[in-house]
Amino acid sequence: MGELHVLDHPLIQHKLSIMRNKDTGVKQFREAVNEISALMCYEATRNLPTEEIEIETPVAPAKVRVLAGKKLAIVPILRAGLGMVDAMIDLIPSAKVGHIGLYRDPETHEPVEYYCKMPPDISERQVFIVDPMLATGGSVVASIQILKEKYGCKNITLMDIIAAPEGVARVQKEHPDVDIFVCAVDEKLNEHAYIVPGLGDAGDRIFGTK
Ligand code: PRP
Ligand code: URA
Repeated sequence: MGELHVLDHPLIQHKLSIMRNKDTGVKQFREAVNEISALMCYEATRNLPTEEIEIETPVAPAKVRVLAGKKLAIVPILRAGLGMVDAMIDLIPSAKVGHIGLYRDPETHEPVEYYCKMPPDISERQVFIVDPMLATGGSVVASIQILKEKYGCKNITLMDIIAAPEGVARVQKEHPDVDIFVCAVDEKLNEHAYIVPGLGDAGDRIFGTK
């Protein structure tokens, strides 16, 4: 089963409290998403393989460690996932970015695909899916399915800021090979499939559309 990592670092939890607060405005909300994403990236990449190389410092030769193994790709689920991309590519500038456009049908809560564009060598890359909210899990499960079946991706990690227990269970059941990094697993979903207590609609709060 994919491992669930709940990131309880005090800086993350403090910034998450800013995101959750209904009085937080768009600017501060975006800044918190950006900062949390950087901290999540640090944790989610902790086990990336490294290799030893030799360089010269101004003082002496030195054996140092650099990233090795597969190259990386960041895949935001549009729209809200876009809010997490800048922080990721600031830290991993060589990563390529693929986009999956999905929105939840307001009646059925099922994901509807409207866009998909991946780097050509995505199947060779370690993929980090980013999306602030994992609610029913429908969007993420559909995205993982597209990445595996259409693009041949084998190595996928999921990063969500807030998850509902239902979404975590669904991803673990349908894609047990995927490790999941979240900052909180909340209580439940409400009748509109919103996370409780959650933070409301992440896309609207990032882009100021409500
Ligand atoms: C939100 C969120 C996730 C999805 C989670 O996107 O960003 O992608 O809902 O819900 P699920 O786990 O039940 O699928 P939304 O559909 O609101 O689109 P948006 O990002 O364009 O606002
Ligand atoms: N999407 C959101 O943006 N928020 C939720 O609580 C659930 C889905």
